[in-house]
Amino acid sequence: MKQKGFTLWFTGLSGAGKTTLSNAVEKELRRLELNVEHLDGDIVRKYLSRDLGFTKEDRGKNIERVTFVASLLTKYGVATLVSFISPYREKREEAREMIGNFVEVYVKCPLEVCEERDVKGLYEKARKGEIDYFTGITDPYEEPENADVVVDTNELNETQCAEAVLDHLEKAGYIDRALDWKTLME
Ligand SMILES: Nc1ncnc2c1ncn2[C@@H]1O[C@H](COP(=O)(O)OP(=O)(O)O)[C@@H](O)[C@H]1O
Ligand SMILES: [Mg+2]
Repeated sequence: MKQKGFTLWFTGLSGAGKTTLSNAVEKELRRLELNVEHLDGDIVRKYLSRDLGFTKEDRGKNIERVTFVASLLTKYGVATLVSFISPYREKREEAREMIGNFVEVYVKCPLEVCEERDVKGLYEKARKGEIDYFTGITDPYEEPENADVVVDTNELNETQCAEAVLDHLEKAGYIDRALDWKTLME
């Protein structure tokens, strides 16, 4: 079966679990021997979008660049994972339209819990007023209204969340894990 390209777009607050969850899904997609590429916010901002900050305009440009790259990868059959806060609904909808085979995953977690986790110590800094435009504190996050998958990382563990995403991919016909079992048993 020829691999069908798709983009899995993870959106959510900082610390919600986008990177953790997309890494777990990526691992499974690689195990299934798909061609996989993962565009993560932190890495893209270090290379492709080094020149951009966090104003609405700059966030928009950042997402436009990622959308463009993801659309090319998807067109050439790659399983593309995109993990960005991507707080603006309009930009995510543009990505959906441009990319086509698009699966939006809302990595949901209450702000208080993200703040408690404070994986990178950024919430503490934002509360002290040391970071401008911090999503959830001094900048908006527009929740998805029609996400294809919603995973609540405060309710489910990492494996359960990853399974929910993989289940959806299977139902949507992008992956075939049964086939994988058959090959294993041969
Ligand atoms: N169900 C879950 N899925 C993903 N991460 C979880 C989950 N439960 C707890 N966590 C923890 O939440 C934190 C999420 O951090 P990270 O993945 O860097 O978030 P983000 O990329 O969204 O900023 C990690 O410390 C992770 O271990
Ligand atoms: Mg991250």
